[in-house]
Amino acid sequence: MRTIPSSSDVTMAHTSLLQGKRFYCRDWVFHKIHHCLQEKTGGPSGAPAGGAGKAGSWGVLLVGGPGSGKTALCAELLWPSSPQGVHRGLHPQGLAFHFCRADHADTLCAGAFVRGLVAQIRRGGLVPGYEEKVLEPAAQGALQPGECERNPAEAFKRCVLLPLLSAKPPPQALFLLVDSVDEGCQPGEGEQRSSAGSPRTIAELLASQHDFLPPWLLLICSARRQNKAITKLFTGSSSSAKMSVW
Ligand SMILES: Nc1ncnc2c1ncn2[C@@H]1O[C@H](COP(=O)(O)OP(=O)(O)O)[C@@H](O)[C@H]1O
Ligand SMILES: [Mg+2]
Repeated sequence: MRTIPSSSDVTMAHTSLLQGKRFYCRDWVFHKIHHCLQEKTGGPSGAPAGGAGKAGSWGVLLVGGPGSGKTALCAELLWPSSPQGVHRGLHPQGLAFHFCRADHADTLCAGAFVRGLVAQIRRGGLVPGYEEKVLEPAAQGALQPGECERNPAEAFKRCVLLPLLSAKPPPQALFLLVDSVDEGCQPGEGEQRSSAGSPRTIAELLASQHDFLPPWLLLICSARRQNKAITKLFTGSSSSAKMSVW
């Protein structure tokens, strides 16, 4: 991907897995992601190919038990290690990513999550016009330390959703990848509590904002199969456009 991940992002993604080993199989997952991205790649209006009704789900939830290879798959999608992965060429369509890690409290905080996405989207340059929008005072205000932690949903709306929605749709659909979205948010030291009604966790934040995702953006999340609450959050009847579970 054109986004240059920060060294800590890369280290976090790679410490738990692969470490020089080859990545095997899972071709069907990459094939399906490719298909979903094609479905979401739109015409000049930014509408998904084949019309709005064909947009399919707003994302996919990859579920599997602990150690089943979810994080490895996410890393392979972003930084293919195999010739097939490079040839498949999905990585340039990565808009931003986030790896939740139970042992890194920062990665579980919705405010830090939003700030990380904004930084990556700016660096990546895949959405022309995003930079100007996110530099507007209202967006910058929502991103301020403290404010972003208090109300991550507002920051997500003002700094991710609205700028993306008002930008010209990119020629190809992009994806936003969140690994281990079921890891709970544990507020770090000195962090201010979210205001009443504001989502506490990254999963709650994403589930509450899904209706506003641009039609050209595929949300890919992974979670442990055992976490029924998460599966329900992303696929429950309250979701107007459900997430496919693989
Ligand atoms: N497709 C794969 N090819 C090679 N190694 C894999 C693959 N999937 C998982 N692994 C290995 O299995 C281990 C557990 O995978 P991981 O992605 O951390 O599981 P999960 O995120 O589902 O808990 C990793 O250390 C990784 O090296
Ligand atoms: Mg994992």
